Amino acid sequence: MSAQTPLLTVRDLAKHYGGRIGCTDISLDLWPGEVLAIVGESGSGKTTLLSCLSARLEPSAGSVRYHMRDGEMRNLATLTEAERRLLMRTDWGFVHQNPADGLRMRVSAGANVGERLMAVGQRHYGRLREAAGDWLARVEIDAARIDDRPSEFSGGMRQRLQIARNLVTHPRLVFMDEPTGGLDVSVQARVLDLLRALVSDLGLSVIIVTHDLAVARLLSQRIIVMKAGRIVEEGLTDRVLDDPHHPYTQLLVASIPES
Ligand SMILES: Nc1ncnc2c1ncn2[C@@H]1O[C@H](COP(=O)(O)OP(=O)(O)OP(=O)(O)O)[C@@H](O)[C@H]1O
Ligand SMILES: [Mg+2]
Repeated sequence: MSAQTPLLTVRDLAKHYGGRIGCTDISLDLWPGEVLAIVGESGSGKTTLLSCLSARLEPSAGSVRYHMRDGEMRNLATLTEAERRLLMRTDWGFVHQNPADGLRMRVSAGANVGERLMAVGQRHYGRLREAAGDWLARVEIDAARIDDRPSEFSGGMRQRLQIARNLVTHPRLVFMDEPTGGLDVSVQARVLDLLRALVSDLGLSVIIVTHDLAVARLLSQRIIVMKAGRIVEEGLTDRVLDDPHHPYTQLLVASIPES
């Protein structure tokens, strides 16, 4: 892939819920290997935007185009349901805030990881199990737990399992909605460290929604700041957090507890 071609191109995107604005006037490009954070207060439209970008929600206006593996730039609105589902199972990952939304709680940890590989055509039981075991180790889950169900896991373990399930197919683009938001502060740091290492090892492109600027600082190269459904500021993460231009960003930055 040419470094000049964005992975995702968004133009004049809007999503309305009846008369209410979910998000509007959104244009952005995501480049291969880039981690983009979407920040803003509750209700600013972060989840709405992420849902439109990941084809989980149909925009009211505008376009989202994705650079497919075959090199074609496709408008997500024109994908067939089968194409959309294939993207979601293979080229894309989605890490939910609540691991239960991204895992099958009643099947084993190993099967949760192996299932995604089966979706891309792997059938050999021994190899599936071996790959699942490798991925559990990568996310620091004891291999002895491979046959346990996620319902028997702690919150942090569930989130690490969800990450393994998403990354096992080597997606090119991973969407994350508050991936550490539901975890204890002590557990958050470990999951964040793990995410940062995996994103860098695998060269992933990521769009991460967070209201936690410390998470954005740790993981992202670029930030967009949303307020009332619109982007009010955008730039390199260090610039936005160290020298915020928009009064709303200044307020967000000023409200970070000193650590
Ligand atoms: N399904 C829905 N039906 C109607 N309005 C919705 C729906 N989902 C979101 N909204 C509205 O769209 C706006 C943006 O909501 P959204 O969930 O995208 O915000 P958010 O930034 O993700 O907030 P939070 O940080 O609390 O998760 C809000 O005004 C919200 O009330
Ligand atoms: Mg949200």
